Amino acid sequence: MNENIKVRVTNLSKQFGDLKVLDNISFDVLQGEFLCVVGPTGCGKTTFLNSVTKLYEPTSGEILIDGKPVDLQKNNISYIFQEQSTMEWYTVEQNIEYGLRIRGVPKVERRQAVDEVLEMVGLKGFRKYYPRELSASMVQRVVIGRAFATKPELLLMDEPYGQLDIELRFKLEDELIDLWRKTGTTVIFITHNIEEAVYLSEHILVLTNKPSTIKKRITNNLPRPRNVIDPEFIRLRNEVTELIKWW
Ligand SMILES: Nc1ncnc2c1ncn2[C@@H]1O[C@H](COP(=O)(O)OP(=O)(O)OP(=O)(O)O)[C@@H](O)[C@H]1O
Ligand SMILES: [Mg+2]
Repeated sequence: MNENIKVRVTNLSKQFGDLKVLDNISFDVLQGEFLCVVGPTGCGKTTFLNSVTKLYEPTSGEILIDGKPVDLQKNNISYIFQEQSTMEWYTVEQNIEYGLRIRGVPKVERRQAVDEVLEMVGLKGFRKYYPRELSASMVQRVVIGRAFATKPELLLMDEPYGQLDIELRFKLEDELIDLWRKTGTTVIFITHNIEEAVYLSEHILVLTNKPSTIKKRITNNLPRPRNVIDPEFIRLRNEVTELIKWW
């Protein structure tokens, strides 16, 4: 097996009773890549992420990480759920520390990791704050910080910026790209937003309506930092839009 492949999905199908959601899906995610997945509502994007993290058992097919079946004891996967927020009853630093604490990371190391993450997400002055005392973008940074704190080998993000206004989204997208480049983690990012997919991704996976198959895997070589009004950017955005046309 090619050692550059981080995640290999082979003939994955998922059915709920009579409802066929994922239909024989196969694709690879490369080590360190930023993959965006776009597809119509209800096509099975969340179902796919839930299958990676074993919340759902596939009806058939398999998902391998580094050539082996997913093992949540061994694989360090962070999952930002759709419309997830922070844990309200914890402060910023306790939120960020959470994943390290449940992994049994010693206190001194935890402290150091939390300091690093607070610095990265620009929340150094807010470690003792509770989420309700923060703005929407700061809360979203806590969520991202918590996901990066354990230095995940794989980061799954399910429409993390869906509810945010456009200006905020651009800012957080840039911050995410910075973090991704610094850490080299492999990211699977789900979005409805085609512009967002073109802005962030190295590859875009376009899914069909359910029963969902892969319509196309597109390579996105646009130079960074990307510019949404660059003609090449617009050309690629139009290409993806044409492929989808789910409205
Ligand atoms: N636990 C479940 N039991 C039964 N049906 C389910 C379950 N989870 C998901 N489904 C169904 O599977 C289909 C895909 O759902 P999923 O949440 O994966 O879609 P999605 O692509 O993430 O949609 P959205 O873009 O709206 O988030 C839907 O028709 C949904 O009703
Ligand atoms: Mg979903």
